[in-house]
Amino acid sequence: MVKKTVKDLDLKDKKVLVRADFNVPMKNGQITNDNRIQAALPTLEYILEQGGKVIVFSHLGRVKTEEDKEGKSLRPVAERLGELLGKDVTFVPETRGEELEKAIDSLSSGNVLMFENTRFEDIDGKKESKNDPELGKYWAGLGDVFVNDAFGTAHRAHASNVGIASNIESAVGFLVEKEIKFIGGAVDEPQRPFVAILGGAKVSDKIGVIENLLSKADKVLIGGGMTYTFYKAQGKAIGNSLVEEDKIDLARELLSKAGDKLILPVDSVAATEFSNDAPSEVVGDEIPEGKMGLDIGPETIDLFRKELEGAKTVVWNGPMGVFEMENFAKGTAAVCEILAKLEEATTIIGGGDSATAAQQLGFEEDFSHISTGGGASLEYLEGKELPGLAVIPDK
Ligand code: 3PG
Repeated sequence: MVKKTVKDLDLKDKKVLVRADFNVPMKNGQITNDNRIQAALPTLEYILEQGGKVIVFSHLGRVKTEEDKEGKSLRPVAERLGELLGKDVTFVPETRGEELEKAIDSLSSGNVLMFENTRFEDIDGKKESKNDPELGKYWAGLGDVFVNDAFGTAHRAHASNVGIASNIESAVGFLVEKEIKFIGGAVDEPQRPFVAILGGAKVSDKIGVIENLLSKADKVLIGGGMTYTFYKAQGKAIGNSLVEEDKIDLARELLSKAGDKLILPVDSVAATEFSNDAPSEVVGDEIPEGKMGLDIGPETIDLFRKELEGAKTVVWNGPMGVFEMENFAKGTAAVCEILAKLEEATTIIGGGDSATAAQQLGFEEDFSHISTGGGASLEYLEGKELPGLAVIPDK
């Protein structure tokens, strides 16, 4: 997929609408992780260098009622963006209307304006989230060209991405280009051996990804809570471990289709309760009665290390255990470290909890790419078409 990029647009003195994904975590009005803002900087800086006028916008959280607006203004994001860009960002606390239109008209080249949370338009009839054609057209009319750099929102067909792009000349930004290069590259034309590591609590969240990657990867290593649904499908004892009873048949089907491509943990760290302080022990591939598996064990870590040796492409999505609890974080940390130290491989983290783990453990710089998408990267790994990307023309 080679999309038209911001470099293909004439930007000088143009009003450039930029959809970013600034859906950042906030606590008491403070941004707790600004990665998504940092990730948008190359595109914004490029447009400014080319003499464009930047009008940037995003959603933040989910907004259904007036009360939901509380704490979801993009004002703190505009302030942080201003600090990172080293220039003032004019913030307009509106999503439409005269104040916004006037502010855009008086914006000069090389300057930045941000307008309010696009989902404030969801209060009456979900105009943003249902891609109301009038809203997309209105926003498109505020600019000359559109750049979609919101990879994290690319799986949504909303007015602020698909709607605008359907009305004016559009291209992707550098972040989206990078996400396509790495995630799309891994899924469509991986350097082999290609190994996928999939974790997380539920098989149901990962069915599409497991199925798609089983058809593309040379090996699929499974960890996390979903292990025990697979164990149950194999007739193994799982004690009180997490299980999705209604996915056991599916797990059995996946196991028989996959043959030796799918690799399950050979041991677990099992505890008596879902608590960091619960007494725990390493057990084999059957979980004793009264215990639950909360992490992969040391033999599994060794097995995964061997499977990853010599890999040329690795995609990782989902933790190997309950990594939020220190006593059950070793498997996730070990996998993260193994991947970070693979020398010859393109290593990609498909967003979400595994991205958080890599950042918390300080291995952020050691991966080829850490996706800024959660749901979007999962859908991309499933092989689905992302509407926010599909609407942008190819080069
Ligand atoms: C995300 O955080 O995954 C994106 O910003 C999309 O958010 P949404 O799930 O609320 O659409």
